Amino acid sequence: MSPVALAARRALATRSVDHAAIAHNVRTLLAASGRPVMAVVKANGFGHGAREVAATALAAGATWLGVATVDEAVDLRAGGFACPVFAWLIDPWSDLESAITHGITLSCSNVETLGAIAQTARRSGLVARVHLELDTGMARGGATPAAWPGLCLAARDAEQAGSVTVDGVWSHLALASVPGAHSVAHPLSVLRAGAAVATAAGLSPAHVHIANSAGALAHPDTALTMVRAGAAVYGIETVDGETHGLRPALRVTSRVTQLRDVAAGTGVGYHHSYRVAATSRLALVPIGYGDGVPRALSRSGRVVIDGRSFPIRGAISMDQLMVEVDAGVRLGDEVVLIGANPGEPTVTEWATLAGTIPHEVLTGFGSRVALDHLRA
Ligand SMILES: Cc1ncc(COP(=O)(O)O)c(C=O)c1O
Repeated sequence: MSPVALAARRALATRSVDHAAIAHNVRTLLAASGRPVMAVVKANGFGHGAREVAATALAAGATWLGVATVDEAVDLRAGGFACPVFAWLIDPWSDLESAITHGITLSCSNVETLGAIAQTARRSGLVARVHLELDTGMARGGATPAAWPGLCLAARDAEQAGSVTVDGVWSHLALASVPGAHSVAHPLSVLRAGAAVATAAGLSPAHVHIANSAGALAHPDTALTMVRAGAAVYGIETVDGETHGLRPALRVTSRVTQLRDVAAGTGVGYHHSYRVAATSRLALVPIGYGDGVPRALSRSGRVVIDGRSFPIRGAISMDQLMVEVDAGVRLGDEVVLIGANPGEPTVTEWATLAGTIPHEVLTGFGSRVALDHLRA
């Protein structure tokens, strides 16, 4: 048995990534938006493996990769990816030299960052490629509309000085998960006006982008010249009350490693927060909150074993959880924590139970949960 196969067999829990689903989802985004797709692979590809997802997404037609940090972008270059890579969490203290040397397209939201990028590019004898970020109503990153004209003029000066090229302007949608044009109309008009200001300042940005997954799938107007999609690449439906034919890529499994029969009234786990009502069989599953299973699932989470659903009982521990099973469950049986077959718990089900969003569930799995890549 190969070392990789042996490690996967020994792992207490495994994330299996369905690359056919990722390819299908990228093609769905391309068809729905009619625009080039930037596949967002930050946070280790939303927990699916950044390099592996990147390879599949590009093979399926994506043309850009998007990440948050310089380290993530440079890691893609180290993995052999020569395509455009956009990184948006950039500040004057980022490793700009490494980013510029590796040809990473950098987001820029203020004149301080622009100055640092221009200075580093000059020192390196290179031209830094930049996309200016405008805040169109999220109040997170980006220049405010008031600061935007000044940023555009400073960028024009840096461009004329030969250290920077402004290749794009961009923003992010706060409300795209809400269907209906009203949820994106304002940011869209602010970005369009911002792009006009950039042009009037003498810039010629080839790319204008704002759409995330929900924008790409539910708001065609937001596609502009390119869409940046994360959740949808991984098969997560993010538009309230709508589905767009995406296929979940992640399956999380473990196995039954201990079984015990307990008497009525037995308290299970820390604080005995659950007591069995009658004589019961309990199965130990070696995965816990330290691996990314939210403790909130202690009250109402479930797993599927051999096609049947069983409840999680007692408080989930850091490394293990207990399930109330029946006599049909055997030592070594596969336990499905997240799956895509009918009846299996989904990422969205976990997120609802835990009071969070699927993105947090996907990125919450720890390194003890092995990654296994299934390619058609
Ligand atoms: C700046 C930016 N663009 C695009 C995305 C992708 O968003 P989504 O996962 O909703 O497609 C993210 C994700 O969080 C983001 O931060």
